Amino acid sequence: MRIGVLTGGGDCPGLNAVIRAVVRKGVQDHDHDFIGFKDGWRGPLQGAVTELGIPAVRGILPRGGTILGSSRTNPLKEPDGVRRIKESLAKHEVDALIAIGGEDTLGVARRLHDDHGIRCVGVPKTIDNDLSATDYTFGFDTAVNIATEAIDRLHTTAESHMRVLVVEVMGRHAGWIALHSGLAGGANVILVPEQRFDVDEVCGWVTSRFGASYAPIVVVAEGAMPQDGDLVLKNASHRDSFGHVRLSGVGEWLAEEIERRTGKEARTTVLGHVQRGGTPSAFDRWLATRFGLHALAAVDGGHFGTMVALRGTDIVRVPLAEATARLKTVPAALYEEAKVFFG
Ligand code: F6P
Repeated sequence: MRIGVLTGGGDCPGLNAVIRAVVRKGVQDHDHDFIGFKDGWRGPLQGAVTELGIPAVRGILPRGGTILGSSRTNPLKEPDGVRRIKESLAKHEVDALIAIGGEDTLGVARRLHDDHGIRCVGVPKTIDNDLSATDYTFGFDTAVNIATEAIDRLHTTAESHMRVLVVEVMGRHAGWIALHSGLAGGANVILVPEQRFDVDEVCGWVTSRFGASYAPIVVVAEGAMPQDGDLVLKNASHRDSFGHVRLSGVGEWLAEEIERRTGKEARTTVLGHVQRGGTPSAFDRWLATRFGLHALAAVDGGHFGTMVALRGTDIVRVPLAEATARLKTVPAALYEEAKVFFG
């Protein structure tokens, strides 16, 4: 068999571990051939390919990013996109495709499989951990560890100056990174996209923290919104080809509001792409490797139109349709649980 592999969407620590596992198992156990498509769906769309054999995957397990490159190209929006992909797959004699990505990349894989008969298997990736069909996506654990370390460091500088430090973390629709890193780092306020926040209430928590002679840390997900407003964006004009606006801005805005309403100095740290750059955590390497092994097994067994997923400690297969149907967001009860530490 000749198998194509691509990585789409935002890069994520662990992508290389998936690629390595797929290729190692495919070559060693089944004598399959591999071809890498460059930059997500742009690769099959434009015929951009790269060699993918054992030598190409040596030494990549601990490396962040993706050796295949990534993009947010949506081939279904391109003229003749499906025909061009089919031609590319035929030209390179590709029997099946492993697509590693989040809701957008996997949504395309589902359409290509369900509507156009292209043999696809999906692997879920996103640091946001917001895919409902899997307990965890790789990349999330690394992002939480990076954000937690940042919060730990910000505590000491906040307290030295007795100022408010607002930490903006990633999380477009789901506040998992904010919730987990905020709890692990002992934040005094955690704001997530799922629950609109009241700025006066936030200021109340900030003030009570100062009352206890500590400086407050406010963790805010970039997709969090104030009660009486919309997304706060620094750059509202930029949209990717899946229609997503470029987030970031709420941290800066919130710090200004806190300073204006409480009279306390407030600064912002935007963690941005630091959260998904660099080496993956041990957990993410483990999960990504197992996803890769099971994705290869799914291709080998002819289970197309499926995605691998983590359920407890088992890797299972779910239909791509189910995998991309619903986002996994932070339940209200879980968020309420964290509130005991606010203020
Ligand atoms: O989709 C995952 C994610 O990490 C979001 O939390 C974030 O909004 C987005 O990627 C940013 O990605 P980029 O800067 O590459 O557009």
